[in-house]
Amino acid sequence: MCENCQKSDLSKLTPILEEFSGDKYALISILQKAQEIYGYLPTDVIYEIAEKTSVSPAKVMGVATFYTQFRLQPIGKNLIMLCKGTACHVNGADSIERALIEELGIEDGGTTEDGLFSLKTVACLGCCSLSPVMMINEDTYGSLTPEKAKEIVRNIRLESK
Ligand code: FES
Repeated sequence: MCENCQKSDLSKLTPILEEFSGDKYALISILQKAQEIYGYLPTDVIYEIAEKTSVSPAKVMGVATFYTQFRLQPIGKNLIMLCKGTACHVNGADSIERALIEELGIEDGGTTEDGLFSLKTVACLGCCSLSPVMMINEDTYGSLTPEKAKEIVRNIRLESK
């Protein structure tokens, strides 16, 4: 592995690998638990899982990239989940998305350079009566307008200074 590559604390994986030892169908469960620990799936963690489960790194990476639940990059301190379900779509989710992209300078799936925000579009968040809706970490923001969405993000940025 190169000098600049990340070095994760791989000892944290040991209990998971022991729990699923010998279970050849457990790869997804192992990846889920690893992501809970590290917040995403760093490359060295992928390689460690491959080695310890005797699955090729390409196959582990293939599974990790196939399922949208897995992240291969760290997420920002504030994860914005913008709903693009039917109700939110009808009520202007696209214009909210454009406003957030403009405000943050990142596309869907991206993270700002300062690591403060990640943006992810999702399906229904389960509160359609508030559409259009976004969640930022545990907080829900409804009846959004493009300007309101920008202002929420700006306020969080100011509070974190
Ligand atoms: S469609 Fe957005 S919360 Fe249901």
